Amino acid sequence: MYIAESLPSSAVASGEQGAATSQVSRKQLHTVWGRFALNDCEGNADHQFGRSVNSLFYGDNVTSASPAKLSLLDLFCCAGGAGKGYSQSGFDVVGVDIRPQPRYPFPFVQADALSLDPEFIASFDTVHASPPCQSYSDLAKLNGNADKWPRLIEPVREMLIRSGLPYVIENVEGAPLLNPVTLCGTMFPPLRVLRHRLFEANFAILPPPHKKHPRVHTHDRRKSHFGKTDEWTDYVQVTGGGNCTVAAAREAMGIDWMTKGEINESIPPAYTEYIGWELRRYISFLRLPHACDKALASRAAGILPVLI
Ligand SMILES: C[S@@+](CC[C@H](N)C(=O)[O-])C[C@H]1O[C@@H](n2cnc3c(N)ncnc32)[C@H](O)[C@@H]1O
Ligand SMILES: [Zn+2]
Repeated sequence: MYIAESLPSSAVASGEQGAATSQVSRKQLHTVWGRFALNDCEGNADHQFGRSVNSLFYGDNVTSASPAKLSLLDLFCCAGGAGKGYSQSGFDVVGVDIRPQPRYPFPFVQADALSLDPEFIASFDTVHASPPCQSYSDLAKLNGNADKWPRLIEPVREMLIRSGLPYVIENVEGAPLLNPVTLCGTMFPPLRVLRHRLFEANFAILPPPHKKHPRVHTHDRRKSHFGKTDEWTDYVQVTGGGNCTVAAAREAMGIDWMTKGEINESIPPAYTEYIGWELRRYISFLRLPHACDKALASRAAGILPVLI
């Protein structure tokens, strides 16, 4: 397994079941890894939104060339909203965060994402990164204190491009992402959350159709619809301001293991599950014989917008 030989010397641990972060040997990690082994997802590659954009670009047969296991490095992983979605689309996920993440549900490395050994990064099939969003948020811009937080998107992008891997960078509206797609809870029933998140990738992602935003539950007495909504049936917004209870936030976002602080930071797993299926098709395509010729032909025909 790729990870055996290439782990950095930083702490490696499983965050499973709230266990405290601890040092484990590479051998132990194999055990951890084995416990998280995912089922082969061959034959299950069509997500609920119908034929995917990567099927259209690369053909339907690419998944038959897909290896059973693909590995994904989940940078700035926090408690694993993004990681969980990739796992649901068949990736073996390893998370990296600068802070301990005792509830992260997959193998975990505590480290500065920008100081990782390039060989370690390159040992994965693909990388997702969710750098901190505070400096790009509307609130920080409004308060004029955006400079208080690091702006990591550009150095992260440079690092991911250097890796040569397919990558995804996720952030909030207003962040300097390149040609991002926006995902929203309305695209993924039964989610009931209004939460726009931007995704930059060096492969094609076609978002599901966006629906008109419904009325959102509120605890704010000043709102005209205060008292007329129900957090268990209406849409919610999950913010630090406390627009709904943590139990309702968990149900609305499809997350059942996080604290309120963690869920405020996270994205619904459904978003990255959707991207994960596209990513699998893309990686499978790259592994087909003559993939480059086919890609160049598609690009020449004007039907392949992004290709690494
Ligand atoms: C917005 S959260 C990520 C949320 C996550 N994608 C999810 O869906 O649950 C950003 C995370 O980046 C971590 N972080 C900040 N600076 C970091 C760095 N230099 N290296 C690694 N992690 C870092 C923070 O501790 C925080 O957990
Ligand atoms: Zn929306």
